[in-house]
Amino acid sequence: MPQTVLVTGGAGFIGSHTCVELLDHGHDVVVVDDHSNSSPHALDAVQKLAGRPLAGAHRVDLRDRAALDSVFAAHDVDAVIHFAAKKAVGESMRIPLDYFDVNIGGTTALLCAMHEHGVRRLVFSSSCSIYGDTATVPLGEDEPAGPTNPYARSKHICEQLLGDACRRYPELSVIALRYFNPIGAHPSGMIGEDPTGVPNNVLPYMAQVAVGRLDELAVFGDDYPTPDGTCVRDYVHVVDVADGHRVAVDHLDDEAGLRVLNLGTGTGASVLELVARFSAAVGRPIPYRIADRRAGDVPILVADPSRVAAAWGWRTTRDLADMCADAWKFQRSHPHGYRSA
Ligand code: NAD
Ligand code: WQD
Repeated sequence: MPQTVLVTGGAGFIGSHTCVELLDHGHDVVVVDDHSNSSPHALDAVQKLAGRPLAGAHRVDLRDRAALDSVFAAHDVDAVIHFAAKKAVGESMRIPLDYFDVNIGGTTALLCAMHEHGVRRLVFSSSCSIYGDTATVPLGEDEPAGPTNPYARSKHICEQLLGDACRRYPELSVIALRYFNPIGAHPSGMIGEDPTGVPNNVLPYMAQVAVGRLDELAVFGDDYPTPDGTCVRDYVHVVDVADGHRVAVDHLDDEAGLRVLNLGTGTGASVLELVARFSAAVGRPIPYRIADRRAGDVPILVADPSRVAAAWGWRTTRDLADMCADAWKFQRSHPHGYRSA
């Protein structure tokens, strides 16, 4: 059944890919984004790619309750997907209050607006960072949370707020998706990841090395207890992540209350494996050097994706080669991100 889905943070990396999936599957999509970490051009590309317009695009800060209320008043919203947040772990250690304000304050404002307008279905962006410093491989959802930085703590607190709200309002249905390491881009190369400033994450950093914006990748540590000494992560294609959200919307009515599900592939790759795969996609070696460990990194983080597979029969379908090829296609055609267009 086509629905009207309000997507907060819809111009961002994962949000823009999710808008395309939703539009491709016949849903109407309303975006709320303050563009604090995204370009409005991403939404032009989304509409071009999907071949149809968004039902609305509102430049609104989620914490502005009056503006948010007018968005809900203007659209008959069936479900919300909530991506809008600040997401840089290192930055969250420097400005933790901003993270609490945007991530927890924004989620609270959204919940209040949903409550006021009778919207009871929500998919929430959560993160594997909630698991913190753990040696468990692979990580299931019942692993205790142990956030080690303000960003991860903000996501954990949001999950707890959502749980409390669901207990008080039993008509609420909320799915929190804990994604591992989303990378890649739409295979068209029309939308992708366009970080502001120097990228924190490994794949966008490498992609900017490949187009000559940065000199070389620093590989943070090669003395971890992993097969090649570099950290292992569960990289997951952003189009799989987007598809997971589209499917989550279809499953919101399965049960009420809060459900927590991992979104990952269940397969890990080391930093050096990723460098090799991305170099193959680019067709030449990506220059790198081994550097000191980065504070806060854990050796291995890999998802146990069996709960979502059992619940919905859903699994990821794209591999590391696809992720690298698609990320490169976007970066090559947008060497300076959306500003290139
Ligand atoms: P992103 O920064 O590309 O997208 C977030 C979007 O939210 C941006 O367009 C930004 O402008 C918008 N936004 C931020 N604050 C806002 C506010 N106060 N009001 C309105 N809009 C606001 O990030 P992303 O990688 O697409 O991540 C989306 C979500 O997924 C975030 O909640 C993030 O914490 C979560 N997540 C991301 C990753 C990852 O590695 N990318 C992993 C796990 C979880
Ligand atoms: C991956 C690997 C680095 C940069 C982060 C968040 C997590 C989630 C996903 C939001 C690590 C190494 C990195 C570089 C490198 N996001 N690396 N050189 O830290 O696994 O996860 O994004 O929820 O919460 O913490 O991702 O891409 O930063 O790092 O060697 O320049 O690449 O040490 O092993 P991470 P990442």
